[in-house]
Amino acid sequence: MSHQKSSPADFSRNFRNALGMFATGIAVVTTRTPEGDPIGLTINSFNSVSLEPPLIVWSLANQLPSRAIFENCEYYAINVLAEDQEPLSRLFSTRSDDKFGSLDVDTGVGGIPLLKGCCARFECRNTVRHPGGDHVVFLSEVLNFDRQSLPPLIYHGGAYRRLA
Ligand SMILES: Cc1cc2nc3c(=O)[nH]c(=O)nc-3n(C[C@H](O)[C@H](O)[C@H](O)COP(=O)(O)O)c2cc1C
Repeated sequence: MSHQKSSPADFSRNFRNALGMFATGIAVVTTRTPEGDPIGLTINSFNSVSLEPPLIVWSLANQLPSRAIFENCEYYAINVLAEDQEPLSRLFSTRSDDKFGSLDVDTGVGGIPLLKGCCARFECRNTVRHPGGDHVVFLSEVLNFDRQSLPPLIYHGGAYRRLA
């Protein structure tokens, strides 16, 4: 094992690569702007926290333009993507002002958009936020959820995967 100090660029790349060894699902977090426009982005920082009360966690990069909207919204949804929804993951991880286009959505608490065809959907109250370095950590109460028995989309090592 080398004891040489790595450069900041090496550290950052190696850190990302090591984090990428943790296989996750993929979700799209959705809400509405104060004007009522639907917004959303792809995340893999989602995880469960508490059963009683029901709490989930995810983190949002500080520099994203939607940060203020997510910080101030009352409700948002976590839509857990199914295996065949990789195109949705790509759509919602690409900068655009109209990601929803003609997408047909369901409506959740407070009018938030819920994506169709997902493995699971969690409607959340925007409860607590904590600064987390270059991200904001959202810790939120789950108000409603549903589930479909569909295989999930997996993310590992920087690539989309499927269950064997
Ligand atoms: C697999 C995957 C996981 C991601 N996870 C997160 C995440 O947890 N938090 C985050 O802020 N951005 C995450 N991103 C990046 C956002 O999806 C991306 O920056 C997106 O363009 C943000 O939407 P916007 O450009 O419309 O603001 C992820 C992207 C991908 C492809």
